[in-house]
Amino acid sequence: MKDDIRILITEEEVQEKIQKTAARISAEYQGKTVHMVGVLKGSIFFACELAKRITVPVTMDFMSVTSYGDDTKSSGVVRIVKDLDEPLEGKDVLLVEDIIDSGRTLHYLMDILKGRKPASLRLAALLDKPERRVKHVDADYVCFEIPDEFVVGFGLDYAQKYRNLPFIGVVNV
Ligand code: IMP
Ligand code: MG
Repeated sequence: MKDDIRILITEEEVQEKIQKTAARISAEYQGKTVHMVGVLKGSIFFACELAKRITVPVTMDFMSVTSYGDDTKSSGVVRIVKDLDEPLEGKDVLLVEDIIDSGRTLHYLMDILKGRKPASLRLAALLDKPERRVKHVDADYVCFEIPDEFVVGFGLDYAQKYRNLPFIGVVNV
């Protein structure tokens, strides 16, 4: 069965905004190395596109987390399924996520990463759904604020599908 997907943000718009975000990051991290921490699997497309356009040195590491609770509502208590390969101490860490929804996962994750004593910790998210926020999250770089709709593409999935779409779309189920 094929789902019906409506384009919300085109491929060109996504690429243009990532380029602008990368330029801001490159300017703000002059003289530093950006240690990007991507949250699997949703952030990988955004993380790669962003990394390719950052002009200061970049290192990358990935982790995988799951939140306790049922599928539709995360509890906010995060369990690390795959941890980072490298310690964060003394590094200028840029956490990269696909979307800030309720904020529960990121709120908890930022706390965990802060505890590892990075020199600095910032957050970049491709998308933000501010209407859905339950837990406060300080995002330093947000590419797009979107309405409360379930989106796919550019890393975001619906039942593990559609991560590979080069645009952001809304699934009509
Ligand atoms: P929260 O901010 O803790 O509620 O959870 C955020 C996570 O839920 C994201 O990292 C995504 O994996 C997932 N998520 C939230 N909204 C969407 C959506 O619209 N499409 C696909 N995944 C979503
Ligand atoms: Mg995710």
